[in-house]
Amino acid sequence: MEKTALEDRVFYPSEEVVKNANITQEIYEEAKKDRLGFWKRMADELVTFFKPYEKVLDDSNPPFFRWFTGGTTNVSYNCVDRHYNSPKRNKAALCYESEIGRKVILTYRELYVEVNKFANVLKGLGVKKGDRVCLYMPMIPECAIAMLACTRIGAIHSIVFGGFSSESLADRINDATAKILITADGNFRRGTPFPLKNNADVALQSTPSIEKVVVVKNAGNEINMVEGRDLWYHDLMATADKYCPPEEMEADAPLFILYTSGSTGKPKGVQHTTAGYLTQVQATLKYVFDLKETDTFWCTADIGWITGHSYVVYGPLALGMTSFMYDGTIDYPDKDRMWDMAERWGVTVFYTAPTAIRTFMKWGTEYPKKHDLSQLRLLGTVGEPINPEAWMWYYENIGGGRCPIMDTWWQTETGGFMITPTPIIPLKPGTATIPFPGIEVDVVDENKQPTDRGYLVVKSPWPSMLMTIWGDDNRYIDQYWKRFGDMYFAGDGAKRDEMGYIWVTGRVDDVLNVSGHRLGTAEIESALVECEEVAEAAVIGKKHDVKGEAPCAFVILKDGFTGSPELVDKLKKHVGVKIGPIARPDDIIFTASLPKTRSGKIMRRLLRDIAEGRALGDVTTLADPGAMQEIAAQYAGKED
Ligand code: WT7
Repeated sequence: MEKTALEDRVFYPSEEVVKNANITQEIYEEAKKDRLGFWKRMADELVTFFKPYEKVLDDSNPPFFRWFTGGTTNVSYNCVDRHYNSPKRNKAALCYESEIGRKVILTYRELYVEVNKFANVLKGLGVKKGDRVCLYMPMIPECAIAMLACTRIGAIHSIVFGGFSSESLADRINDATAKILITADGNFRRGTPFPLKNNADVALQSTPSIEKVVVVKNAGNEINMVEGRDLWYHDLMATADKYCPPEEMEADAPLFILYTSGSTGKPKGVQHTTAGYLTQVQATLKYVFDLKETDTFWCTADIGWITGHSYVVYGPLALGMTSFMYDGTIDYPDKDRMWDMAERWGVTVFYTAPTAIRTFMKWGTEYPKKHDLSQLRLLGTVGEPINPEAWMWYYENIGGGRCPIMDTWWQTETGGFMITPTPIIPLKPGTATIPFPGIEVDVVDENKQPTDRGYLVVKSPWPSMLMTIWGDDNRYIDQYWKRFGDMYFAGDGAKRDEMGYIWVTGRVDDVLNVSGHRLGTAEIESALVECEEVAEAAVIGKKHDVKGEAPCAFVILKDGFTGSPELVDKLKKHVGVKIGPIARPDDIIFTASLPKTRSGKIMRRLLRDIAEGRALGDVTTLADPGAMQEIAAQYAGKED
């Protein structure tokens, strides 16, 4: 993180904001005195249980913590039925706009009907409690409907981001042995349909567990429907019954699986649970984004990521709020698209990622200036540390200097916000500030001792924590609980300042953060070594103005092959096809050797130094010191 003078600037909340905020100082104090009591109160206020729980937290079998055990509930019941049965019945639940300007508003009543019908469709296709349903969909209302329909019948959804490749999709379907795939013909990207179903078709050649494919007609692009396997969503919905009783689910039943990258080549199926998740996503949204009945909340994340799960769908709907979703590129037809929509839909709370903010910043203030953004009252960011310069730009040009910015630190694994300001907390550009009430984190050294610069850990279980890694309890333990024993290790480094604020400095494991998306270096490396020309590859994250980090690959070719611009293109393309476009390396550097420690570990820090053009660090631990000079020379040559 660059040290700037701004780091010392503190923005105090206005009296007005403090007076109207859902959160109070007393709530922080309450949670500090009695953490479990606070979470109990949250669950009692925010979740409708069918059968009351017996225990707030069952910690008898760590690290397999269970929340609200003994209770039963249903997530779709909490997200739609209880609003359908209230004066919110005709309130907008989901507002949607497509890239080509198609608009849909679903009220809670309408959403209720659609969810019930689609739950019956899934039942009709043989989906039962505990079965896995894979979603490979655009950001369309049907995606939220399908999620809620799964939860209604107790099926576990696994959403695969639409930007992932066929192979990534197939891997995820097979790991979860999903029975049904729900997808769409395509969706618009810069005015042309992106062929989602065609991609799915390639995956479906190697996914024996899939019995049926449900296809939403969205972009109208030509697709192939396989007789007996592929079914149109609208055909199935046309004859579906209007009511499906919600399945009574155990509080700790699995709710969904979401794959994320780790430090090995194989993505992890992060498994989330029911009542604890529902408690924390609502509590955090209510107190951090301070949602009120009159708000229109726009979280720009794709539903394919955890942010979309928790804060486009489950959090806002469970709270009975209005959630806006947009499916399209941010600069189509022009660079003011986001602000145009924010104005037209009357967005009051806006939540996006630093990479997007840096892009807006690059485009200039003329675009937000074209629109009246005076309805905005609160802003947020997530995904990576935000550089103070981007924070200031966001604060001044989007928030008009009046909207507090909630910099929320959390992860796919945490399910909901963990370290975050609330509107009553003084802000500093670049820090996620302090833990949310009821959350206990620390910065520790190798020996678990508190320090001002070290590893970020969570010291006690929290309601929306992952249950395990799908099908791999050992990996769950190894990954998160081995290093610091009874503390959850997040994989991030952090420092603590004199105000006690936590500054997350980024991953300390072999995980890249490209535009707020996690990619394992091992995943990209294994894609590269699949190519017949490649003997060995090392991938590192290179600092990038917009993306935060960009993948950069050092490649050793097999004998008989030589590097060429064509080969660079081929390798980049292969990674794009294998994993998805976000994983495509920006640079590929051919080299004869890689710097390794004596134990054979690639010295990524040194590769990063070279890629970013810094002076070479200490190379005395290198097995072959000459390697470094050679790589440096190659890289310098490339930039000429
Ligand atoms: C990793 C989690 C949580 C949804 C988006 C990404 C980084 C996330 C922040 C923040 C600094 C952040 C961390 C974390 N990260 N938010 N506000 N400040 N870093 O979810 O893909 O699970 O990635 O993103 O490195 O570990 P994810």
